[in-house]
Amino acid sequence: MKIGIIGAGNIGGNLTRRLTALGHDVSVANSRGPETLAELAGETGATAVRADEAARGAEVVVVTVPVKAVPNLPSGLLDGAAENVAVIDTGNYYPRERDGRIAGIEDEGIAESRWTERQIGHPVIKAFNGTFAQDILDRHLPAGDPDRQAVPVSGDDEAAKRVVRALIDELGFDTVDNGGMDDSWRQQPGTPVYGLRADAEGVRKALAEASPERPEGFRG
Ligand SMILES: NC(=O)c1ccc[n+]([C@@H]2O[C@H](COP(=O)([O-])OP(=O)(O)OC[C@H]3O[C@@H](n4cnc5c(N)ncnc54)[C@H](OP(=O)(O)O)[C@@H]3O)[C@@H](O)[C@H]2O)c1
Repeated sequence: MKIGIIGAGNIGGNLTRRLTALGHDVSVANSRGPETLAELAGETGATAVRADEAARGAEVVVVTVPVKAVPNLPSGLLDGAAENVAVIDTGNYYPRERDGRIAGIEDEGIAESRWTERQIGHPVIKAFNGTFAQDILDRHLPAGDPDRQAVPVSGDDEAAKRVVRALIDELGFDTVDNGGMDDSWRQQPGTPVYGLRADAEGVRKALAEASPERPEGFRG
């Protein structure tokens, strides 16, 4: 599958490593330019590109940058992507440590990934936002393994969600459907499922226990 990854840090780097190991054709971008990604490209066989090139021809695009950087992404980010491209958003809003206060999220009370959808002008599937980056490399297991971890997945585009869930299964994790984007707050930072290493049953239970109130530590 042709996959574009925008952001080459902890999560983007490890997704590049695993997806190339699985045989996918990965293009990866950061903010500083492809010349700064020579090491990752050499290690993995991924193609280092500019952010405005990463989605070209891609069936899946992963946006994995700090939330405060989302408005700085190039306009037309998804131009040239495959029709019906599935866009994964791994982002988390950390107003105090990293992102600063984002009024759209806090004042309108919209889910973090809904805000990102509006910034990039395309629906997203929220996934991997509560997964430790290192787990992507270290904790993948075959389907059916009793120790396999599960990842919650939210989004309104059911077809894209199916594509993303199949890809996550290939990456070695079960998925739990957390509903549409309006329910995606259940997997945001500070919720019971966030950072939880559990199987599908444990993830389902944690999602059900979430409170819609934004935790104090995650308010700007
Ligand atoms: N770390 C984790 O374990 C973890 C787990 C789950 C979810 N998340 C979330 O996933 C997102 C990414 O996290 P991370 O830890 O991978 O971040 P990170 O290590 O800080 O890496 C961020 C990446 O985004 C790139 N970037 C920033 N602005 C950009 C722009 N305008 N255009 C293109 N690329 C841009 C950076 O490129 P440059 O270096 O060139 O600036 C860098 O490659 C965050 O929202 C985070 O909260 C993280």
